Order: sequence, then structure tokens, then C-alpha cells
Amino acid sequence: MKLKDFSEDELKARQSELKAVHDQFKDARLSLDLTRGKPSAEQLDLSNDLDGILGGFFLLQDGTDVRNYGGILGIPEARQLGADVLSLQPSQVMVGGNSSLALMYNLIAHMNPVWQGQAQELNSKVKFICLVPGYDRHFTICESFDIEMINVSFLPSGPDMETIEELMVRDPMIKGIWCVPKYSNPTGHSYDDNTVKRFAELGKLAGDNFRIMWDNAYVAHHLTDKPARLRDLMALAREAGTQDTVVMFASTSKITFAGAGVSFLGTSEKNLKAFEKFLVPQIIGFDKVNQLRHVRFLKDLGNLAAHMHKHRTLLHPKFEMVQDKLQTAVGGKEIAEWTSPDGGYFISLDTLPGIASVVVELAASAGVKLTPAGATYPYGLDPENKNIRVAPTYPSLEDLEKALDVFVVCLELASLNHLLAQ
Ligand SMILES: Cc1ncc(COP(=O)(O)O)c(C=O)c1O
Repeated sequence: MKLKDFSEDELKARQSELKAVHDQFKDARLSLDLTRGKPSAEQLDLSNDLDGILGGFFLLQDGTDVRNYGGILGIPEARQLGADVLSLQPSQVMVGGNSSLALMYNLIAHMNPVWQGQAQELNSKVKFICLVPGYDRHFTICESFDIEMINVSFLPSGPDMETIEELMVRDPMIKGIWCVPKYSNPTGHSYDDNTVKRFAELGKLAGDNFRIMWDNAYVAHHLTDKPARLRDLMALAREAGTQDTVVMFASTSKITFAGAGVSFLGTSEKNLKAFEKFLVPQIIGFDKVNQLRHVRFLKDLGNLAAHMHKHRTLLHPKFEMVQDKLQTAVGGKEIAEWTSPDGGYFISLDTLPGIASVVVELAASAGVKLTPAGATYPYGLDPENKNIRVAPTYPSLEDLEKALDVFVVCLELASLNHLLAQ
């Protein structure tokens, strides 16, 4: 039954009941953490064979010794793997170090002087479209380059393409857009065929040097038997003549070791050449030994899919448990809406407007850390103060269950307090 249909007396009685439970949680001095979008130790264990896999053999087929300097674009075998993951040609892919985020940062550092020059000419500012709720570290990169961020919402079908297109037509200083096209962080959206097609056309509406930051961080991270299928953006962009607007990213952070994987950047050959030139002063080459380890371990797409199935076996019960707890405790009360993703690392939950930060505070006081309210929005500002990102992957199933028990109490208590104060 909807909470707002209860009488005031009934609501007050429920409020007292929940306050008492919350006090009990406080006394229990819990210390649980739902903030981290990290793989658990069991997931990391799935890739322990990376250790020692080279068995002292460091030569590539072409005779290159991977222990030595050189090869800034990565070893050919790893470029092939990256190309398979991103559905590109190896000539369009470079392999970086352990962080795709670092490649994203560098790509923007590379483009920014050109963008800022144009901003000066037009007496304007460089701007990026940010799909919200989204990934906070994308937004932090923009902030660090003084790039103004414009929020665009998701519709149930995916990004609000009409608004994006209107903005692009109106403002040539929109130089980029952040996207997580499959199992988006945190909403779980996967872009449908028509959306990807419209992304491919954006370059025709944009000013010079526009870039689609296509962060496919969860490309292989399915939670069901029906993996989301993403249309080939680069092929569509080639048809539209906009291939230079496309820059794709992925990494093995949540496939092998989050802190010791390899990353991929894919773009047109022309863009890749320019980006390589930008990188030359800062690095002679990334860690090729680790690239070779990853190629030996992951082998090909078929083997990678089998490996990801092992992750899924560990993750599925956690995601299912969160759904069950939320449904049992607050389902039908009309105080929250949440996603039920088919892949990725997060569940995105919207509270009643104005109370996400209160829920986070209540949970913190009962020993459960949640991602700060607002973190999923540029500048940390959720205009409706309603989005909370739940990250179920890292804690054990037992800890996750305890954390959810606290969370649902905080969610209902904050909602009741809010309704009773109106
Ligand atoms: C959408 C997205 N992109 C990138 C990253 C980080 O990737 P990497 O470890 O390759 O820097 C994350 C990590 O949570 C993410 O959610």
C-alpha cells in the first residue's frame, strides 16, 4: 500500500517503530560500506592465473622483447584483443596502462587547447553534455579542465536524444558528451539501435572537434542470459562521415585486476596518430609485460565471455538480494524507484524528491556508508536531491544483506519524516 494513503496516526506509529529499529542499528555499531564499485576479493581471485602466466617467456611472435622500452600503441596481440572488445580494427586501437580513466583524461588534455582557443574566439566557454545520473569521475575530469557541464536526463528508452540534438544545434561550443552506452553507471541503461544511430549523426550538428566519449567500461559485464547488444557506433559514424567524433574506451579493470589491468582507446586512425603525438613527451610505452599477460590469459572474445560468466555467478546473487530486499521492504509504498539492471556494477535508486541526502545521513549514523547524495551529478549537485547509487559488488553477501536491512529502514524513515512534515 502507498505510504501516503495511511492516516497520520498510522504513519506516526510506523515512524516510532522505525526510529526504534534505527536506534538498535546505531547501538550495534555496524561498519558496512556500499560505496565502492569495486570487484570483490573472490572476483579478483578468478584472475590469479595472470601471476606467472608468462613463465619467463617475454618474446612476441615478431621477436619484440616486452620487457624493454617502446611500442606506445601497445603490443599487436593486445591491440587485436582491444579491437575485438570494441568492435574496431587493431589499427584504430591503442592499449594503455591500468586505467581507461587516465586515457580519457589525456584525450581531453589533448583536445582542450584547441577547444579553449575556439572558446576565446567566440567569447564563450567549452561545454560538455553529461547524461545524469552518471559517473562522477567523468565529471571530475571536466571540472579539472574548467569545462562547463550541461545535464541531460535519461528517458526510460535511454538518453534524451531530442534534447541533446537541440543543444548541439544551438551551441557550437559543446565539444563533447560522456556516455556509458552499455549497462550505464549507475542507471544500467543500454542504448538501443536508434539511439546509437543518432549518436553517429551528432557530428553533423556539432561545431568543430566534437568528441563522443564512448566509455564502454561494462561492455562484457552481463548479469543475465540475454546480453545487451550494442550497435556498432564506429561503422555508423563512418557511413555518416563523422568517424573522427568517436572515441571509445574500455578496460579490464572489472574483468581481471581492477588495479592492474590494461585499458583500451579506440578512434579513427587520424585521431590516433594525433593522440600518439600528444602522449610521446609523457611516456615511452605502457606496461607491455602486463599486456602480454592479459593476452595469454584472456585469449579471445569467447574465452573472455566464459571468464565473465564466472564473475556473473558471483555477482548475480548479490544483485538479486538487493532487488528482493527493496521489493519486500518498500515495494508498492511509492517512496522509491530503482533499476533492475541486466549488467554492470550498480543499482540506481531515486527517493522522494529532496531526501536522498537525509537517507545517506541516516544510514551513515547507523554504520552504513553510501555514495554521497549528489555524487552522480556534475558538481555533486543533484537538482532534485533524490538519486542514490547502490554498489553491491564488493561486500560479502552476508554484509550486503545487513547493509540493505539498514538501508531500507533509513529509506522508509526518511520518507515518513518527510511526509509527516508536509
Ligand atoms: C563508467 C566507468 N568508466 C571507467 C571506470 C574506471 O575505469 P578504469 O579502471 O579503467 O580507469 C569506471 C569505474 O568504476 C566506470 O564505472
